[in-house]
Amino acid sequence: MNNTLKNTQLSLQISDLSFDGQGIARLGRDVYFVAGALPGEQVTARLKERRKKIWFCELVSIEQPSEQRQSPPCPHYERCGGCDLQHLQDAAQVEFKQARVMRELERKGLTVEQWLPAVTAAAWHYRRRARLGVRFSKDKEKVYIGFREANNVHLAEIDECPVLVEHPALNWQDWSQRLVSLECRARVTQIEMLQAENRLVLVFRVLKQLSSADRALFRQWANELDIDIYCRPDDGELLALSESQPLYHQVMGHQLNIHPDYFVQVNESVNQQMVSQALSWLDLPAGSKVWDLFAGHGNFSVPMAVENQVHAVEVSEEMVAALRSHAQSIAGQSAGAQLIAHKADLSDSDSLKQLPDADFVLLDPPRAGAAETIEAILAQAPKRILYVSCDAATLSRDLVALTQGPYCIRKAGILDMFPNTHHVETMVLLEAVASQDKKQDKKRLSQRGGLKKPPLKSLHRRNRGASRG
Ligand SMILES: C[S@@+](CC[C@H](N)C(=O)[O-])C[C@H]1O[C@@H](n2cnc3c(N)ncnc32)[C@H](O)[C@@H]1O
Repeated sequence: MNNTLKNTQLSLQISDLSFDGQGIARLGRDVYFVAGALPGEQVTARLKERRKKIWFCELVSIEQPSEQRQSPPCPHYERCGGCDLQHLQDAAQVEFKQARVMRELERKGLTVEQWLPAVTAAAWHYRRRARLGVRFSKDKEKVYIGFREANNVHLAEIDECPVLVEHPALNWQDWSQRLVSLECRARVTQIEMLQAENRLVLVFRVLKQLSSADRALFRQWANELDIDIYCRPDDGELLALSESQPLYHQVMGHQLNIHPDYFVQVNESVNQQMVSQALSWLDLPAGSKVWDLFAGHGNFSVPMAVENQVHAVEVSEEMVAALRSHAQSIAGQSAGAQLIAHKADLSDSDSLKQLPDADFVLLDPPRAGAAETIEAILAQAPKRILYVSCDAATLSRDLVALTQGPYCIRKAGILDMFPNTHHVETMVLLEAVASQDKKQDKKRLSQRGGLKKPPLKSLHRRNRGASRG
């Protein structure tokens, strides 16, 4: 088939879901991806575009629906690109994500001794962090606010978003009316939201410095709505426009300071369960020496440091400062409590050379994974390694490298951090196969000449400083 067939309609039997939740059908040697279709469904689809031997199709009608189909509860679902699995029942979404991660690991020849049940929480009103687009139409004298439409750059205008946390100030129609009264209305491009435990914060990205009249309006709105408002002008310096308060969230009973510029796990409830599960799986004997790589502001480091010596490594200057302030507040809480923050770029494979030894390692990298840290981790011969990942492909790649060392995968499980979307978080526990002397392990690795270097391609895909969510 070639592109002359574009817009042709076909009747297709959907047999599977792609990694990003599109229905897959096969006819002869051709493969068709149909967004919005589910396995078991008979559908009519329109051919839109052919890329790498795959036809990407638009769903026209469903002749035979799946039993797992539900009507998408959000009124903006058809256009908005924010959630792509709302048409699949909640339990089936979780099953799909679990099967996908299992398949990815199996494909790489990895064996998991035990798959644990998925960690889940409410499928709605879970998102405490998000970024929305803003566009001003001069013709209509109107400000549009929304998420990018599926598969294009246009904004799907929304009034409310049912995956965001509930707060009276998250009414986007109201914001669209407010923003139109700004002098800089044509220069506002984004709104970021962060719901801390004590306060809602909105950050407006504006492509120019604000006039004093606009600043006064933002201050007035912050007071009216009892929220904090910041502006991020084009030069990137965050500016508080209201009397901003220190923000925090609680993780396992610890109060952690956060800031609109920090990485914060989007789903508060799943995050609590995730940190608790990580501690339980790592099962650290008191006084352990632990590396927490890609530590952020200390989501895992602080709870671990209560009884252990934790070396937290992070690239962002601001989050390293937060780690240092958390270190001060936990010091002295118990005899062993120690958190030491290290600013380092972990895409540099030498960055861990100066770090004191570790018995346990936790790593939670961005989507690009952690290829450049594997050699240094294995050289430590830690007893257990806990890997938290938001990308099954880079996770399985890194697990292949880790299991070249004397490690087996004891446990794995998914965490439904992003319900109604195809995104998934995975936690994996690796354990040293035999409790050999650490020095012997190190010697063996050096005799083997270290690890195979990651392929050049993976080095080029490094995602310096990037974070998800
Ligand atoms: C997925 S987040 C996890 C943060 C933290 N573990 C948490 O749960 O909040 C990944 C973190 O890695 C940091 N990061 C990204 N690239 C990095 C790099 N090359 N070196 C060190 N840290 C990096 C990001 O700034 C971010 O804080």
